[in-house]
This record gives sequence, structure tokens and C-alpha cells, in this order.
Amino acid sequence: MTRHDTLREESVAYGLHINGRDHAVQAGWLGESLLYVLRERLGLPGAKNACEQGECGSCSVLLDGVLVCSCCVLAADAVGSDVRTVEGMGDDGELTDVQQAFLEAGAVQCGFCIPGLIVAVHDLLDRRPDADELSVREAISGNLCRCTGYGRILAAVAAVQRERAGA
Ligand code: FES
Ligand code: FES
Repeated sequence: MTRHDTLREESVAYGLHINGRDHAVQAGWLGESLLYVLRERLGLPGAKNACEQGECGSCSVLLDGVLVCSCCVLAADAVGSDVRTVEGMGDDGELTDVQQAFLEAGAVQCGFCIPGLIVAVHDLLDRRPDADELSVREAISGNLCRCTGYGRILAAVAAVQRERAGA
């Protein structure tokens, strides 16, 4: 039996702190990604699985306040960390200003990339409320969208910036 087989056979139980709540992971496998555990074990399907290799950003979440691709993080490595997913961006299921702006700007087409973009845009605007367009483009450059051409996404981000600035 190889080490790989041994790891696959050993199940583990651990807890994750996600969107302000504790979640128990039962009979997990140590090699499972955070993305897999969120979606398949904990019923949090907001983060999307597209490339599963850190290329597309559709699985973006915040890990201790840092934007990461959850497909590239082992779930067991997130024990003790604060995980925030797109489901936890708003209060009590309310849309955030960024989500509302995406809707109003028509920035959502198939929608597959959108949860990752929402997390990335919140992260950027929390850190740099007055980011210029080039900085916004750079910040979302890791979030691939194959539908929109990005124009309406940029318009949505600019609308949030104007609204937050009271302009
Ligand atoms: S699914 Fe994680 S970066 Fe594409
Ligand atoms: S809206 Fe379809 S990939 Fe972005």
C-alpha cells in the first residue's frame, strides 16, 4: 500500500470557522481542498469549481482576510483560520452593495465567475476604496470571465466607489 493509499483511507474529523459560524467536517480526507469541503461537505456552493488549479479565481474566498483560491488550499490547513465565502459577504442574506451594483450594471451573464469576482472586489475596495481603474483591472485579473468582456464589471465597481464616497 502506498502512502497515497494510506492517506486516502484515513478519515479525519475537524472543525472550520466559516462566515462567523463553526462547522464540523466529519470523515473528511486530509487531501481535500477547501473548495471541495465547502461545496461537497458543508453545503456552501457559492465558491465555484472551474479549473481547480489556481488559474480562474472562481473559487475565491478570504482566509484570515487574505484573498485565496480555495481550490489550492487544503481544508485541513484552514483549521483555526477565519474563512469568509461569498455567502458571508452580506448581512442575513441581504445583497451587498457590490452584488447590487453588479445586478444594476448588467455585469452578470452566465454567472459562473461572479461569486469569485464579488469576493475579490470586496477585498479590493475594503483595502483600497479609491483604487483607480488600472488597479481594479489588476485586482480582478486573476478572475477569469468568459462572458462579459469586463466592461460592465468595471462599471459596477466604479458605481460602488461613487456610492461609498457619497458622490
Ligand atoms: S477553481 Fe480555483 S482557481 Fe479555478
Ligand atoms: S459571467 Fe459568465 S464567465 Fe463571467
